[in-house]
Amino acid sequence: MSRLGVNIDHVATIREARKIDYPDPVEAARICEKAGADSIVCHLREDRRHIQDHDLRTLKKVVKTKLNLEMGASKEIVDIALRVRPDQVTLVPEKRKELTTEGGLDVLSQKKKLKAVLKKIQKKGIGVSLFVDPDIKQLKASRQIGASMIELHTGSYANAKNKKVLKKEYVILKKSARFAKKIGLNVFAGHGLNYKNTRRLRNIREIEEYNIGHSIVARSIFVGLKNAVKEMKAIVR
Ligand code: PXP
Repeated sequence: MSRLGVNIDHVATIREARKIDYPDPVEAARICEKAGADSIVCHLREDRRHIQDHDLRTLKKVVKTKLNLEMGASKEIVDIALRVRPDQVTLVPEKRKELTTEGGLDVLSQKKKLKAVLKKIQKKGIGVSLFVDPDIKQLKASRQIGASMIELHTGSYANAKNKKVLKKEYVILKKSARFAKKIGLNVFAGHGLNYKNTRRLRNIREIEEYNIGHSIVARSIFVGLKNAVKEMKAIVR
């Protein structure tokens, strides 16, 4: 059985659209755990567009399962991670202008820098996962610099325009997951996964954990909208 990590960033996105104090991503984390989430994932971005520093500090106190902090490898954010000490850090590439994380970490071209960051974080007893494309060279490089876990970027699979591309991307993910496991890496997967495209990946036994955010927060609108309207109607009536 694989685990599900729920990314709560987009609860904070709705809050930050108004710069007020709801909806609270920490409350969302509580609900996700009650519903069976095996971990809570959040991304502290350099531009703080959704999760804020205070969210992270409170999540550290409140999350009972595993707190997985996605972050770029910049000094500012690494220092925050070392102070807050989430259970796990997932290193991702980060560009300010991107809508969401585009592509995996290029471990190959930054081996030295990433190795140093990895060591620094691991030394504090925090597990480190690297978010990488399903690419054998990147997986090898991840192992070489001392990673014990990786998250396969499923974006190309999720965004496949037709069945042929989908099949091709699925095979790439499958081969990559097998290879990663063979060289001793724990294998996770995430990005763009939804209620349609996740099922097929369950055939890739090597994937131990799925990290999913946007589709779950989006779906919660439609499974929750009816009650939300009923509650307001009762007040207005
Ligand atoms: N995993 C990683 C490493 C990510 O950067 C993201 C996006 O923040 C996710 C998983 C979740 O992606 P999505 O919101 O598309 O489910």
